[in-house]
Amino acid sequence: MKILVTGGAGYIGSHTLVELYKAGHTAVVVDNLCNSSSESLKRVRMLTNSDIPFYQVDIRDSKGLDRVLEENADIDCCIHFAGLKAVGESVAKPLEYYENNINGTLVLLDCMRRHDVRNIIFSSSATVYGNPAVIPITEECPKRPCTNPYGQTKSMLEQILTDLHTADARWNIVLLRYFNPIGAHESGLIGENPNGIPNNLMPYVTQVAVGRRPELGVFGNDYDTPDGTGVRDYIHVVDLARGHVSALSAIRRECGLVIYNLGTGNGYSVLDIVKTFEKVNGVKIPYSIKPRRPGDIATCYSDPSKAFRELGWKAQYGIEEMCRDSWNWQKKNPDGYALN
Ligand code: NAD
Ligand code: UFG
Repeated sequence: MKILVTGGAGYIGSHTLVELYKAGHTAVVVDNLCNSSSESLKRVRMLTNSDIPFYQVDIRDSKGLDRVLEENADIDCCIHFAGLKAVGESVAKPLEYYENNINGTLVLLDCMRRHDVRNIIFSSSATVYGNPAVIPITEECPKRPCTNPYGQTKSMLEQILTDLHTADARWNIVLLRYFNPIGAHESGLIGENPNGIPNNLMPYVTQVAVGRRPELGVFGNDYDTPDGTGVRDYIHVVDLARGHVSALSAIRRECGLVIYNLGTGNGYSVLDIVKTFEKVNGVKIPYSIKPRRPGDIATCYSDPSKAFRELGWKAQYGIEEMCRDSWNWQKKNPDGYALN
């Protein structure tokens, strides 16, 4: 299939491009580079040995999107990654987040409809489960209020896409709820490249390991978890990327609207990550215990069995490979894409 990949220069998008080409698909990338660098696409082109077309277009620019769809009239499906994703920033800048994520998606959907493309895979998040009603979390677990505007945009966009499908059953829509993507392509050529101080655990750990930050702050050790630190379902970004390739099979069989968790089903604590990272990579991660981070929950991990049953998709990599590949990327690119 030929796929329009919005946000394709970003962390998950770049890894997904590699897996799409490996599976024999082709892609057209749209990204405004507000949180990424065109260097990632150069490297994806090296890894895939393909000249992937790139349009530096904002998804809120309907004329720009029209041009992309006119020049690529054979696009079958969109994988929609483009969006702002920093939880803390979304609390400080709610209007910017709603405007970019909600309005951007509305413009994209309208444009797709006008060009008769009614297949979309959407990057959603486990954040829509809020403080989950059951663990492990199945897709039937009720959605709960999110504690920040970023999470609200994911929840609202799921609803908007559901309403769209109700109104017009020609749409095929796959909502993928990601758990915690970490790791990088095994080549170390592409990986996560956060701007400023990382919000998420693994990029913080790798920046400590590479000497850019003195120590990791562990946000709380008094949760109701085995060692008191937060437990999450970390998933290798390459497994996550392959989940998108598998989701195309649902689109192919005209699935209507379907929802899948993409996780491993295993929960690891913050200290599990620190210890595994140290063991696998032979580096020390100094840390100290800090107060809990507002909005955090104790435990979040998936039941990913629906994706296996219906898509034949299952995560292949374990926590050791995730720690190894995160470090391999950071070690080879101490300043992300910046120095290269
Ligand atoms: P990322 O920031 O690396 O990639 C997102 C890309 O979208 C960036 O390249 C950015 O420049 C682009 N973008 C943003 N707004 C745009 C706009 N208006 N027009 C065009 N391009 C725009 O983030 P990521 O980690 O690769 O995440 C991809 C998607 O997955 C996002 O929607 C994110 O919310 C979602 N998600 C991520 C995680 C995670 O932990 N990384 C978890 C759950 C869901
Ligand atoms: N943590 C630390 N120190 C840090 C960063 C994180 O101790 O410097 C802890 C957190 O308290 C949490 C765990 O590490 O217990 C994971 O935190 P992340 O910020 O890496 O991930 P979250 O689970 O909080 O959030 C992530 C994404 C959200 C997404 C959510 C569910 O950032 O966008 O997963 O998919 F909504």
